[in-house]
Amino acid sequence: MVKSGFKILAIESSCDEMSCAIVVDGRTVLSNIVSSQIDIHTRFGGVVPEVASRNHITAVDNVVKLALTEAKCSFDDIDAIAVTYGAGLVGSLLVGVSYAKALSYALNKPLIAVNHIYGHIASNYLTYKDLEPPFICLVVSGGHTAIIKVVDYNHHEIIGSTLDDAVGECFDKVARVLGLGYPGGPKVSALAERGNANIQFTKPNDNLGYNFSFSGKKTAVINYIHKLEQAKCEIPSADICASFETWVVDELVDKTIRACKESSFDKIVLAGGVSANKQLRQALTDNANKNNIKCFIPELAYCTDNAAMIGSAGYYAYINGIGIADITLAPKPSLSL
Ligand code: KG4
Ligand code: ZN
Repeated sequence: MVKSGFKILAIESSCDEMSCAIVVDGRTVLSNIVSSQIDIHTRFGGVVPEVASRNHITAVDNVVKLALTEAKCSFDDIDAIAVTYGAGLVGSLLVGVSYAKALSYALNKPLIAVNHIYGHIASNYLTYKDLEPPFICLVVSGGHTAIIKVVDYNHHEIIGSTLDDAVGECFDKVARVLGLGYPGGPKVSALAERGNANIQFTKPNDNLGYNFSFSGKKTAVINYIHKLEQAKCEIPSADICASFETWVVDELVDKTIRACKESSFDKIVLAGGVSANKQLRQALTDNANKNNIKCFIPELAYCTDNAAMIGSAGYYAYINGIGIADITLAPKPSLSL
């Protein structure tokens, strides 16, 4: 049993964001500083791992100090350190993990190793103070796509996942082929708002159950664009974005609702960077309402990578004696659920 008012200093650096947060009792965010490298990677059209880790090294100290200042805390007020140790880019993870280990050792405070995806799920505990498992969670990020039964805070059962690309990756690829730039998800989504979902891409048969395949969809969209290019026709970018987005959102929503009903759960929770997608948020909410299912969607600040979600997941791991790490902790780039 830990005291009430338990303060975790959390660090997240799995990709191109360096973030530090101070979170109380897994639910209340005192500060959540996110230093994004979008401007740095835009000119490369995607994240360059080596560039990301080098920039993390220069950012981490300031980000941690800012998080403490904004939370009006000193290191003495902190009860434990939580850090993302996977999945992610090894160099990026290494910066956060090394910094967290050094802090834990120097301050003599417990170190908690957190799985990035459990962090995304926990972002909902920050938005909804009374939300508790069990629920069905749709995780949609740049690296993962899965439907998960969250039986308890630390008991997750995957019931469906992508067999190839993640949905965020697919958004990014479509954006790249259309020349929209990086990160692609928000750009595809913004352009989709000006288009009509009137294009029927060649649809592969879906006999995947709760699983997904996004590489086929990506290829269908790319082939469609290439055929128009070869015929020297104008590319209806907005309609392509709208049609692609609707296609993907419909599948994600249908399978998640079905999984919830067939598992006899009454709550659906959305998590991961793609949960910032407006159409997905609306469609999941509407369909859940129609089916008398309660729907929980994280506020935008907690959708994409941030340390506050790691502070929440770290708290629920720590109070159950899970994830407690020491100076030997090493990043796990391919950590699974
Ligand atoms: O969770 P996240 O920040 O990082 C990973 O853990 O991967 O997710 C990043 C992904 C990127 O692929 C990005 O394009 C996508 O989330 N994304 C979106 C939107 N905002 C971010 N995809 C669709 N619509 C959005 N509004
Ligand atoms: Zn993420």
